[in-house]
Amino acid sequence: MSQPKEPNRRDFLKRTAAVAGAGLATVKSPRLARASASERVRIGAIGTGGMCNHHLGQLMKLKEEGLCEVTAVCDVFSNRLEAAAAKTGGKPYKNWKDVINSKDVDAVLIATPDHWHAPMTIAAAKAGKDIYCEKPMTHWDQLDLAKQVVEAVAENKRVMQVGTQFMSDDVWDLAKANLAKLGKIIHVQSSDCRNGPIGCYSPKSNDPAAVPGKTLDWDMWLGCDETRVPKRPYEPGRFFAFRSFWDYSGGVGTDFFPHILTPWVSTLDLKFPKRIVQAGGQYYWDDGREVADIVNMCLDYEGGPTVMVLGALATDQNLPWLIRGQKAAFEFNGPSSPLKIVPEKAAGGGETTELKGKQHWDTIPHWRDFLSCVKTRKKTRSHEELGYRVMVALSAGIKSYRSGKAMTFDAGSGKVCEI
Ligand SMILES: NC(=O)c1ccc[n+]([C@@H]2O[C@H](COP(=O)([O-])OP(=O)(O)OC[C@H]3O[C@@H](n4cnc5c(N)ncnc54)[C@H](O)[C@@H]3O)[C@@H](O)[C@H]2O)c1
Repeated sequence: MSQPKEPNRRDFLKRTAAVAGAGLATVKSPRLARASASERVRIGAIGTGGMCNHHLGQLMKLKEEGLCEVTAVCDVFSNRLEAAAAKTGGKPYKNWKDVINSKDVDAVLIATPDHWHAPMTIAAAKAGKDIYCEKPMTHWDQLDLAKQVVEAVAENKRVMQVGTQFMSDDVWDLAKANLAKLGKIIHVQSSDCRNGPIGCYSPKSNDPAAVPGKTLDWDMWLGCDETRVPKRPYEPGRFFAFRSFWDYSGGVGTDFFPHILTPWVSTLDLKFPKRIVQAGGQYYWDDGREVADIVNMCLDYEGGPTVMVLGALATDQNLPWLIRGQKAAFEFNGPSSPLKIVPEKAAGGGETTELKGKQHWDTIPHWRDFLSCVKTRKKTRSHEELGYRVMVALSAGIKSYRSGKAMTFDAGSGKVCEI
């Protein structure tokens, strides 16, 4: 099997880096739920850092189509807040609660570090806002809150999109429609492997413009009471490279894996894994980070399949993305390639066929889906129930890595425990 053409987010991130822009998405309030289909969704963006800047640029494009408008922006770092307000014309807020309670906001974009995703999502749902929340849906150690996200969205009849934008690629529809050709599904695999110094993982990262008490509200960044994060003095590395610290992130296990696991959970309608094992280690980067630079996760689902995901920060040799069935396999070759169906010799063999699916690796289709669902009140392509199933796997994976034990999930209690 050939090596896939970059089945990760590197090209996407290169492209989005060039789009550094302004603009947040719009949200749909109960008012908008009743509004005409032509009304713009008014979006409040919370956490106007790197990814949010990408979204703001996309939302400015969608604004030109009359789909949305950024009416509020919020950050605890005043330099970023001012820049986002200048780009979008959105009203600047220092406290995110003022955004979710604003009458001028229909939906929120949450693009803060992971530890804030669940508290902000739950509060936004209760305040009657729809939600586009960046991945992972919650911090890995907030699985109880992940369940509360699902409940809050349901109880308040909200629309939610998790920011796994590749879920809006049509290749997954094509895969679902042709799944029967594979026979019994045995094994699935995907990877996102990168190599090189990545600033958002380097605890040496800094920007002297961030000064706690002056330009930065560090206590609000930590949010200890609501996020359960331990209180600690400001450290630039934690602010700029939160991905490298367990209190705020799970490293590649929650940064890369939502993108490469959610398509499998959705396409194969996987529920909760019965056995979860994660292995890996810190073999190269020795700069004060806590997270691993190579992560392998295996998930066994009842009756199959086994799912294997691989993520790395010190090698960019990727695995082919495959769904292996007893009769044939799907091979996903990345943005410019079609979906291939490769027959098994044991099932009669035959020629490899190609289907014309396309992977966009773009956030615009994901926003279109969200904005459309805000109007129709349908489920998004990466909705919260899917997000919860993914979070169970990701949370169990990190618990397995950190404890050295195999894990299982008890759906009754909603808890991950050792086998
Ligand atoms: N979908 C994707 O492809 C993709 C790509 C990159 C990042 N992300 C996700 O986006 C999120 C943010 O990542 P990033 O790289 O943009 O981080 P970042 O640090 O550049 O930006 C996060 C911003 O949130 C702000 N913030 C933190 N706490 C806040 C609070 N209480 N109120 C208001 N603002 C607050 C920070 O000051 C910062 O400016 C992460 O969860 C990450 O996983 C997704």
